Amino acid sequence: MRKVGAISLLLTTGLWGWSQAAAPPNPLYEQRQEANPDGIGKFYLGREISHVMGHRAASWLERPERELEERTDLLLNSLPISEGDVVADIGAGSGYFAWRIAQRVGRKGKVLAVDIQPEMLEILRKNMETQGVVHQVEPILGSITDPRLPPSGVDLALMVDVYHEFSHPYEMTEKLVEGLKPGGWLVLVEYRAEDPAVPIKRLHKMTENQVKKEMEVHNLEYVETIGILPWQHILVFRKPDHPS
Ligand SMILES: C[S@@+](CC[C@H](N)C(=O)[O-])C[C@H]1O[C@@H](n2cnc3c(N)ncnc32)[C@H](O)[C@@H]1O
Repeated sequence: MRKVGAISLLLTTGLWGWSQAAAPPNPLYEQRQEANPDGIGKFYLGREISHVMGHRAASWLERPERELEERTDLLLNSLPISEGDVVADIGAGSGYFAWRIAQRVGRKGKVLAVDIQPEMLEILRKNMETQGVVHQVEPILGSITDPRLPPSGVDLALMVDVYHEFSHPYEMTEKLVEGLKPGGWLVLVEYRAEDPAVPIKRLHKMTENQVKKEMEVHNLEYVETIGILPWQHILVFRKPDHPS
């Protein structure tokens, strides 16, 4: 684990993070006319939600140049994963991260690979077979409001290039927090909207401030933002050890 382990001490002593969740907006969502063609016209806390990436684009997730372009090796090394952990790969897509995480959690651990597209889960199943990790990766068909995780059963919920697609980000995040063990990690990896040089459509990027604003309304503590990747930032949050 990277420095996130050391920071947990600050969290338990209350020196870091938010002590209480902010109130969610009321109404939660807004439908606006000035929609971007890449968006669904629905806004959450000032951000327009993007369309979901369809299963026909799954090969883009598996492109050979991805590791070098996005330094997915560095990303994996930054994650708070230990042998034996239960990791929820939310919006797992083709399983690019699922099998790599399965190798890290080992035979005593588990990867819950959640997606809302049955076709994506079928692609994932085949890829897990090829990689020899079918026993460690459990595909879960989630709904747009619920990833269907076991209550307080997950050490880490990971979302790589996913959260900005949630049609119901508030409901999804509430359920993700329910699924985390006390002290469990929630990690979002989003393309940096602050950087126009990142070659990704605007609605598929998020600023650090926007991510923090959207997490602030949940029972989560902000831990840190890791800025080592070429295109994305890694935002690390934690469910408090103690009841809120
Ligand atoms: C751009 S892909 C990223 C896939 C994978 N995380 C990766 O980086 O290779 C986004 C995925 O999130 C899924 N998704 C969108 N909304 C979701 C939701 N509410 N729950 C679970 N998955 C969702 C989509 O179906 C799609 O497979």
